[in-house]
Amino acid sequence: KGGYDHFMLKEIMEQPRAVKATMAPRIRGNDIVLDDADMDMHGIRKIIITACGSAYYAGCAAKYAIEALCRIPVSVELASELRYCNPLIGEDTLLIALSQSGETADTIAALREGKSRGARTLAIVNVVGSTVAKIADWCLYTWAGPEIAVATTKGYTTQLTALYLFALHTAKQLNTVDDATYRSMLSALKALPKQLQQALDMNPEIPQLAKKYHKAKSMFFIGRNTDYAVALEGALKMKEISYLHAEAYAAGELKHGTIALIEDKQPVVALCCNDAITEKTMSNIVEVKARGAEVLAVAPRGNGRILSLADDMIFVPQVNPLFSAVVEIVP
Ligand code: F6R
Repeated sequence: KGGYDHFMLKEIMEQPRAVKATMAPRIRGNDIVLDDADMDMHGIRKIIITACGSAYYAGCAAKYAIEALCRIPVSVELASELRYCNPLIGEDTLLIALSQSGETADTIAALREGKSRGARTLAIVNVVGSTVAKIADWCLYTWAGPEIAVATTKGYTTQLTALYLFALHTAKQLNTVDDATYRSMLSALKALPKQLQQALDMNPEIPQLAKKYHKAKSMFFIGRNTDYAVALEGALKMKEISYLHAEAYAAGELKHGTIALIEDKQPVVALCCNDAITEKTMSNIVEVKARGAEVLAVAPRGNGRILSLADDMIFVPQVNPLFSAVVEIVP
């Protein structure tokens, strides 16, 4: 366990190195070089990402970056649903299967289903030689190293990183970004391992916050856009690891019913790392505070308004909003 109390903590700490291992062999100067030289996205009209659990949530977070950079519509489908829904998949579809283990039965079945309907297929997998890696036409290994803990951490962050590399590579291939945008996105990607390390180092008070919040009966995670995708994964981890009921909500949806559940001292984790939409999420923080919620905000340092609204803060470095999820998930 490398001196840590348990494997999950060790693997949390390994994330900067794991993300670097996903990127390093694929960034050569100003070029992204993916493993399969014949990976051609011309003619692809839609992308479907399929996976289970946290891998599915990594897909939800990456959808924003792929659509923004490549201008191809992306849908993210639970593998356990896709395999049974007579999906609209054809030769103009790229089906991406995400899996740490490469052995998840539903993901394997969804991938087979997509292949049988003529889709081109890409596997993003950690375990070398696994079934998902073998079935797909193309494969990107995440090189995260063995993940022993049942709950994924570095598996998730490296899947997301591989999808960001794919998005930027495809954008260049299809000419959907100009040179200046490409270069600034590439340098934003290169900065991620260092920013992940900063996210690990900058919050020594997290154990105290855990002591304060762990007695809650339930917890809400709210956010918009990429912050919402992080809320989904955050709530899953809270349930799985703390046995505490948690629910993720798109912050703008709260008022359509769920806000009735926000009562005095209800913990709400507010994810505010996507600058473009933070103002909107802040209005939702005001709403839940008005009903007595206790708000733990996750945000870059320097936003005085969030600081004054929230009861507690977890800080993360400022990251390009398209890629912020990979750093924001760490705390
Ligand atoms: C949650 C978790 C699971 C996995 C899911 C998919 O912490 O680890 O939800 O993400 O079972 O597993 P893989 O990625 O191996 O297909």
